[in-house]
Amino acid sequence: MRILAVYASAHGSTAEVGRYIADVLQACGIEAAATAAESAWPVEGYDAYILGSAVHNGSWLPEMATFVRRSRRVLSAKPVYLWLTCLRAIEPGGYAYVTNNYLPNLLSRTLAFRRIGIFAGKIDMTTINQDEAWTLAFRYDGSRDPFTLGGDHRDWNAIRAWSEQIADDLVPGSVPRSPDAAPS
Ligand SMILES: Cc1cc2nc3c(=O)[nH]c(=O)nc-3n(C[C@H](O)[C@H](O)[C@H](O)COP(=O)(O)O)c2cc1C
Repeated sequence: MRILAVYASAHGSTAEVGRYIADVLQACGIEAAATAAESAWPVEGYDAYILGSAVHNGSWLPEMATFVRRSRRVLSAKPVYLWLTCLRAIEPGGYAYVTNNYLPNLLSRTLAFRRIGIFAGKIDMTTINQDEAWTLAFRYDGSRDPFTLGGDHRDWNAIRAWSEQIADDLVPGSVPRSPDAAPS
């Protein structure tokens, strides 16, 4: 079983999530690698794909859109999973908002995803450029001022749990029992 995590990341934090997901799968005894969407071509030769993107303007990044378009034939024959990292997820009602407003656009025109993870992301306001600041100021659709949302909001336990669900989907019984798990 060989799995490829493919990420689209503007500022690197989604890339770190992709690499972490691959690490979790490896800890489950599954061969896994992570790579950027712009260099993930050709993609044949894997048994499953885990795609992840930062959200800009309510959608995945153009690099992921291009990757999915170019790889659709290969991907549609395999199990495919999707995660999004975004700021909306840290706002009240954020998961429902992302599910109802961001996902439909992506799902209607792409693939059947087996599982979808929505994760709070990371943003450092000192590293975004002027165009990005403009986009956030005028296009961010949250209820809070996006410039108050700076920080690293990633929940590594939630990301690990989601990754382990994928491991268990693909290789049942592969997730190591945590040391404090009650004996069965
Ligand atoms: C220009 C820009 C636009 C963004 N638009 C959204 C958005 O529409 N909705 C959202 O929830 N988060 C939005 N975000 C937040 C990012 O999705 C979040 O910070 C993500 O974790 C960044 O990942 P990266 O470090 O891999 O680029 C935006 C961030 C930037 C810089």
